[in-house]
Amino acid sequence: MAFVSLADLLREAEREGYAVGAFNTNNMEIAQAIVEAAEAERSPVIMQASQGAITYAGLDYITSMAAVAAARATGPIALHLDHGTSFQQVVQCIRSGFSSVMYDGSKLSLDENIAMTRKVLEIARPIGVSVEAELGKIGGTEDDITVDEREALFTDPKEAEIFVRETGIDALAVAIGTAHGQYKGEPKLDFDRLERIRTLVNIPIVLHGSSGVPDDAIREAIRLGVRKVNIDTNIREAFVWAMRRELERNPAEIDPRKILGPARKNTVEIIREKIRLFGSNNRV
Ligand code: G3H
Ligand code: 13P
Ligand code: ZN
Repeated sequence: MAFVSLADLLREAEREGYAVGAFNTNNMEIAQAIVEAAEAERSPVIMQASQGAITYAGLDYITSMAAVAAARATGPIALHLDHGTSFQQVVQCIRSGFSSVMYDGSKLSLDENIAMTRKVLEIARPIGVSVEAELGKIGGTEDDITVDEREALFTDPKEAEIFVRETGIDALAVAIGTAHGQYKGEPKLDFDRLERIRTLVNIPIVLHGSSGVPDDAIREAIRLGVRKVNIDTNIREAFVWAMRRELERNPAEIDPRKILGPARKNTVEIIREKIRLFGSNNRV
């Protein structure tokens, strides 16, 4: 099956009130784990690659691995660029076969973000490639900022309304209290803000930094209109913890397959759990 666009996947999720997991891949084992989990749960899935993943693995490898995965899968798969900050990179991904891109202009002013996001839409929309964009600043758990400073970076609902109207994007990534990476404490999501955004913005909402967010909070976010949930850190943990366990069990092991095989298996398990939490299981 060819990649499907994000817009198509999320339209169905919107109609049925669930969210689709967007899982980051950097290598073959994680790409395989994403598809194996989606197949086992009969779920649509979004495979995404960051600029860092593309630098690490190579754009051709990422696209080829995802294409093999999609060809084997019975369910729909979108291949998505995660946090693209360069217009040139976005163009390269589209040329290479991605069905969806995120243009992340969150560090720009509102006007500049609108202008750049429009530029991306001009090339993506005519060929059926979906565009996600970010308003507000999600940031990382390692950012050394106070709660008040982080809140100042949250998405402003009125600006979100303007942003979506002026750009025509397919999905909006919002800053409502999540952050990328491992949380030190429990993240507190601003559900009132999410609700206000949702009443002003009639497109699917994307939750970034979702690893480590309590299950109940994820469920509530989905109830309030989140339709794409991004998970990377939980995958890294599942993968590396299993590798470490295997190496501790047998420090003399030199066969990479004996280390990476269990890492892949553990990754499948965590992705399956997430798929069930998001409610996208048994949809294919
Ligand atoms: O949003 C961040 C993702 O977890 C990707 O991280 O840029 O280190 O690949 P990365
Ligand atoms: P986590 O690594 O915190 O799960 O965030 C993933 C993400 O938002 C990718 O864009
Ligand atoms: Zn993100």
